[in-house]
Amino acid sequence: MAIRVGVPKETQPGERRVALVPAVLKQYQKLGVELLLEKGAGKESGFDDEAYEGVTVVDSSEALYSQADVVLKVQPPVPEEVAKFKEGATLVSFLAPHTGDDRIKALLEKKISSFSMELVPRISRAQAIDALSSQASIGGYKAVLLAATLSGRLFPMLTTAAGTIRPAKVLVIGAGVAGLQAIATAKRLGAIVEAYDVRSATKEQVESLGGKFVDTGVKAEGEGGYARELTAEEQAQQKKVLDDHIATADAVITTAAIPGRPAPKIIDKAAVERMKRGAVIIDLAAETGGNCEVTKPGKEVDHKGVIVYGPLNVPSSVAMHASEMYARNLYNLLTLVVAEGELTLNFDDEVIRDSCLTHAGEVKWAPARERLEGGK
Ligand code: NAI
Repeated sequence: MAIRVGVPKETQPGERRVALVPAVLKQYQKLGVELLLEKGAGKESGFDDEAYEGVTVVDSSEALYSQADVVLKVQPPVPEEVAKFKEGATLVSFLAPHTGDDRIKALLEKKISSFSMELVPRISRAQAIDALSSQASIGGYKAVLLAATLSGRLFPMLTTAAGTIRPAKVLVIGAGVAGLQAIATAKRLGAIVEAYDVRSATKEQVESLGGKFVDTGVKAEGEGGYARELTAEEQAQQKKVLDDHIATADAVITTAAIPGRPAPKIIDKAAVERMKRGAVIIDLAAETGGNCEVTKPGKEVDHKGVIVYGPLNVPSSVAMHASEMYARNLYNLLTLVVAEGELTLNFDDEVIRDSCLTHAGEVKWAPARERLEGGK
């Protein structure tokens, strides 16, 4: 019998995305699986149950979890959700593997084979599976729109009968996937864009998008293409150069992150106070504490005339396309483990091996295993 792939309705407050969209159903036919959807799961993303042609719609999460051999989710399930899973089922989702020990214990108890989208290796072959990138790029785009909306200024240059408006100056801090999309979006709106990152490879990427790279002289390449944390001296050097650029910006978009660590604090209160009245900071790192000292995650703060907003779960605010891209990422991962309706977990495949968090009652991802063993 073909395996059943189930997609529940997300339960985390504010989460509007869904792990399956009608546009990928045709592709799923090639896998030969049976698809189950919890009633209303796609509604917040703009997809009614009727749009999921050929998918069995079930009435409750209990009905879904008790039948699904493979569960596809957006947000990590809470332990109470894991408790409803079939023993030995497979889960593919964002799993926040750096935290959530209770969830990991629940996954172990049920012998769930869990695959974390955060752990998919950033290699060329896995680009179509890379959900961190698909969702970060939506975040970068939306951050600029939020900045433009909160700003009292226009972003493009306008030459009108009522005078000439100078273009806004946007500074993007952290030129990873979100930052690069923010640069491209701000350019499309007609702003003058500067950008900064501690990884030297980003200079060329920033410039190829028409941005001006701010060079602070600090280089902090870490492991796996990510940045490392800065020393106190490096932080001081960075601040010395960056603060002048922050002071003259109309909008600052911050995206700097170190995997598994709190967001680096790059803009302190004094730097905010040097900014122009009406300037805007959109802190995309709010989820991990924020890049700005003034940021209150999820809140819009007016700090002496500067608007500082640290939005949470930005991709969810563009739920239709965020779901579509995420659902494709999940489908592409499933093509590595499902053929002719059968599931085969091939741990010789780097993508499967690296993204596995738990399997057969064991924690497979070393940092989580060490953390759990340390906590015993
Ligand atoms: P991220 O979300 O972990 O961090 C965002 C950015 O913040 C990074 O560019 C990082 O260098 C920067 N950053 C960290 N500390 C900073 C500081 N103190 N000041 C300024 N900037 C700081 O990164 P993301 O976007 O997930 O990308 C991580 C890496 O993965 C990059 O090297 C990217 O090119 C690579 N990548 C590779 C892919 C592939 O080959 N398949 C696909 C996507 C990303």
